[in-house]
Amino acid sequence: MTRIVALSGSLSRPSRTRALVQLIAERAALGVHAQIEVIDIAELNPALGNTVSFGQFPPALAAAQRSLEAADLIVLGSPVYKGSYSGLFKHFLDLLDPTRLSGKVAILAATGGSDRHALVLEHQWRPLASFFELITAPAGVFVKDTAFANYQLAPHGDEGVAATARIDLAVAQARQLLDWPTSVPNPASSTPISLVA
Ligand SMILES: Cc1cc2nc3c(=O)[nH]c(=O)nc-3n(C[C@H](O)[C@H](O)[C@H](O)COP(=O)(O)O)c2cc1C
Repeated sequence: MTRIVALSGSLSRPSRTRALVQLIAERAALGVHAQIEVIDIAELNPALGNTVSFGQFPPALAAAQRSLEAADLIVLGSPVYKGSYSGLFKHFLDLLDPTRLSGKVAILAATGGSDRHALVLEHQWRPLASFFELITAPAGVFVKDTAFANYQLAPHGDEGVAATARIDLAVAQARQLLDWPTSVPNPASSTPISLVA
C-alpha cells in the first residue's frame, strides 16, 4: 500500500488549501493502490501552537508526524500569509526530526489572494523542502482564490482548468520521480495525465 500524505497549513475552516492538497493527493493516487491522509493544521491547533518542546507531543501531533514520516509521497501546501507559508505550518515542521523526510518525493502547493505572490513556492517552500532533503516535483502548484467556488477548485472556469493542468503536471513529475506509471486516465477530461500532454 502506497501512502500519500498531504499537509495543509491553513488556519481556516473551510479552507481552499485543504481542498487543493486533497485534490492533488487524489490525482496522484489515480491508478495506484494508495491510501490518502490529510494533515490539517487547523485541526491540530491549538495543541500544535502550545507545543514548544520536543518529546512532549500531544498524541494527535505525534500521530501526524508519524504519518508524514511514513509517506511515500508528500503534498506540502499552505496559504500565503504575508508573503510566506503560515507560521503554524512552519511550526509543525520545526517540531519534526530533520532527518526523517530525507529522500521522500514532494509536491509543493500554495493558495493566495494575488498572483504577485505565485513565486513564493520557489523562494520560500522550495528552500524549506531542501532543508528536509525532500525531492520536489519541479512544477509547483499556486492557485489563486478566484479559481475556487465554495472552497473547492472550480474545475470548469479558465483558472480552474489552468490549475488542474498544473496539478497534473506536478503529479506526473512526482510519479516519474517515484517510478509510478505516468500515464493514467484523467477523470476530469479525456486527456491522460502525462508529462508530454
Ligand atoms: C493573515 C493572512 C495573510 C495573507 N497574506 C497574503 C499574502 O501575503 N499574499 C497573498 O497572495 N495572499 C495572502 N492572503 C490570502 C490567502 O493566502 C488566501 O485567501 C488563501 O486562499 C487562503 O487559504 P485558505 O482558504 O486555505 O485559508 C493572506 C490571508 C491571511 C488570512
